[in-house]
Amino acid sequence: MKACYPGTFDPLTNGHMDIIERAAEIADELIVAIMVNPDKKVLFSVLERIDMITESVSHLPNVSVVAAEGLTVDLCRRLGASVLVRGIRAVMDYEYELQQSTANMMLDDTIESIFLVATPELSFISSSVVKNLVLCGGDAEKFVPASVNRILKEKIHGNRSSL
Ligand code: COA
Repeated sequence: MKACYPGTFDPLTNGHMDIIERAAEIADELIVAIMVNPDKKVLFSVLERIDMITESVSHLPNVSVVAAEGLTVDLCRRLGASVLVRGIRAVMDYEYELQQSTANMMLDDTIESIFLVATPELSFISSSVVKNLVLCGGDAEKFVPASVNRILKEKIHGNRSSL
């Protein structure tokens, strides 16, 4: 079974890695898809996000990374993926995911959404929390893969010195 895990990944966190590693055990092939969420202003370019995810999943032979615009279900059809994976951390995620997956179901009912419940110790992590932590001078090493932490510090402290 080929599955697709879409998201903004701005940046990738250990919470995302938890979902990727577990979904890679279930699927024969997992494609991590960097998509556009029109409600979000991003810090990292698409190329930076491709690089950070590619490096972080290099130990998982059945995982690849793509970036696309448009609808996630259209990308799934193009890739031949029949399953959409998303993570759920709390009730708030559930409500949002229910809305998204229902819209996706209306658009294409041949693509099934499946949800993995976040590992409890990682369920408070979000990309925004990580960015705020580094902006405020903290170190995100416990919350993101090492390569992401490096680029996160460069990006935020680089930006900060130019303010
Ligand atoms: N662990 C840690 N963090 C998690 C997480 C987990 N298991 N699951 C979600 N998150 C966090 C992310 O860090 C992110 O935090 P932020 O809001 O602070 O940035 C947030 O929860 C969700 O972000 P993410 O999972 O990266 O993706 P998203 O919700 O921004 O992505 C798309 C939504 C891209 C999948 C959706 O907008 C999409 O499909 N867009 C294409 C258009 C489309 O087809 N829309 C649907 C039909 S209308």
